[in-house]
Amino acid sequence: MLAELLRLLPPEPAHGCALALARLAPPRPVRERPRLTTSLAGLALPHPVGLAAGFDKNALAFAGLLRLGFAFVEVGTVTPRPQPGNPPPRLFRLVEDRALINRMGFNNEGLEAVAARLARRDRGRGVVGANLGVNRDSPDPLADYLLGVEKLARLADYLVVNVSSPNTPGLREWQRPERLAPLLGALARARDACAGPGRKPPLLLKIAPDLDERAEAELVEVALETRIDGLVVANTTTARPPSLRSPHRSEAGGLSGDPLFAPSTAALRRVAARTRGRLALLGVGGIDSAERAYAKIRAGARAVQLYTGLVYEGPGLVRRILDGLERLLDRDGFANLADAVGADLETPDG
Ligand SMILES: Cc1cc2nc3c(=O)[nH]c(=O)nc-3n(C[C@H](O)[C@H](O)[C@H](O)COP(=O)(O)O)c2cc1C
Repeated sequence: MLAELLRLLPPEPAHGCALALARLAPPRPVRERPRLTTSLAGLALPHPVGLAAGFDKNALAFAGLLRLGFAFVEVGTVTPRPQPGNPPPRLFRLVEDRALINRMGFNNEGLEAVAARLARRDRGRGVVGANLGVNRDSPDPLADYLLGVEKLARLADYLVVNVSSPNTPGLREWQRPERLAPLLGALARARDACAGPGRKPPLLLKIAPDLDERAEAELVEVALETRIDGLVVANTTTARPPSLRSPHRSEAGGLSGDPLFAPSTAALRRVAARTRGRLALLGVGGIDSAERAYAKIRAGARAVQLYTGLVYEGPGLVRRILDGLERLLDRDGFANLADAVGADLETPDG
């Protein structure tokens, strides 16, 4: 209902309204779901469904979004300095395809504003991660990422290094091993140095679904060697499957939603088979039902995130996924969600 109403507005104003409404979400008694508890690199989560990066870029609404039922919210992508992003139009609904294309280009208010908002939060209430990027005109991207870690290591519950947005020229080049290894090494050291006592926020890397298998394998090796904690699989795709029907299908940018489900889940499964439990995996891309969330979990994800599904299904989607997950665990004879993690892999990683 709400999702349909908001879709009467152009995409960006609709997003602004959704954020404003989320901030007003009233506190609701949360039903405990002991079978669905999970953890991500040591971070305890009440259930596996989180909100993906890009929805609350400026950390304005995470408290309300947690009240809507998400187990965790990833704010950002945030860059050191505020920047306007690309000129509009830059967000397109592909309604016929249950998809979006965006080329927002990291529009955000910058690290100071986001840090100030995170500093005021009640840490007892839900898990908030921060997704870190670089300014479009940055002369030194490594320094940008480092600044993000330094500013937010004490304020966020986990950190994500975003080297996979298709909308900042050159950013995806940081996925190449010769660049990625020093980057992740430096960021892991900065995280260790800046974290408060007893609180070391897990450091994850968000990857594109468009890597060829060799590049993906090399990236996983670097992630394992540099001892980061996990991978977020995946960001939006620059591919345009021939099945797309919407008039907006040729817009430049990253495609998300239904058409991303199959390729992002295939990437997750490959990465899970390579890492076999040594990295925490967060599954993202095209989740709009319990079945799809469950497929990501069976493919090796300890938790999942969604964005486009919220646009088409509205906030009731989270509860429907959780109810459905409990039914699917019953159907397959799993006592707990943790038992289903990686069940589709040849060597389950439990
Ligand atoms: C409008 C929009 C903005 C996004 N902005 C970001 C971002 O700033 N940083 C990021 O890591 N991912 C961003 N994403 C990607 C999502 O976090 C997610 O990886 C992707 O949309 C796939 O999930 P979905 O199919 O559930 O939407 C954005 C996605 C959309 C649709």
